[in-house]
Amino acid sequence: MKLFLDTANVDQVREVASWGVLDGVTTNPSLVMKEGKDFRATVLAMCELAPNVSAQVTATDAEGMIKQGEEYSSWHKNIVVKVPMTTEGLKAVKHFAQKKIRTNVTLVFSVPQAILAAKAGASIISPFIGRLDDAGEEGMALIAEIMEVWSHSDFRTEVLVASTRHPRHIVDAARIGAHICTIPYDVFAKLPKHPLTDIGLKKFQDDWKKVAG
Ligand code: E4P
Repeated sequence: MKLFLDTANVDQVREVASWGVLDGVTTNPSLVMKEGKDFRATVLAMCELAPNVSAQVTATDAEGMIKQGEEYSSWHKNIVVKVPMTTEGLKAVKHFAQKKIRTNVTLVFSVPQAILAAKAGASIISPFIGRLDDAGEEGMALIAEIMEVWSHSDFRTEVLVASTRHPRHIVDAARIGAHICTIPYDVFAKLPKHPLTDIGLKKFQDDWKKVAG
């Protein structure tokens, strides 16, 4: 499973990329707003650090999405155009697929939406599991259903588990066979840690001091 960072903070991308485990980045308008930095400069800096960087269009009509998405994709080869799951978004995705521009269909909350996005030619779909959990539903059950459908289909669209909230989401997504997981920095930072690793390392270091001493 590929691991993406869900952020608009370049320092966070640089840090996780330095671990040698980063496959991509997802941004969205809210994350960009939180950082308060120039969007193009942010995305371009990320493209130097990761092979896939999703940049979201903000137009709501297909024509506007196509104009924005074509501009974004002209900035750098690593950019994936992120398009919302609407009928206008589907029209734009079909256009981008014909032009071999990679897309990530965002705000997917159901299996029918996932199927439509794949049929329109999306490179990636992003079901938001945390927001479903927040609404009292079982977000991971949606991923399981989508992966079951994919196992009977010839879709080449990758399923990206979005809106993850804790490390268990990453484990469950991997066990189900999702292709990608995007993870906020605070959750990503928890993944390398285990208290027994810290205790074990301290003991090795203490014992080695005795040998060396
Ligand atoms: C995915 O691409 C989105 O940016 C993201 O995962 C949304 O997560 P949230 O529900 O924590 O805002």
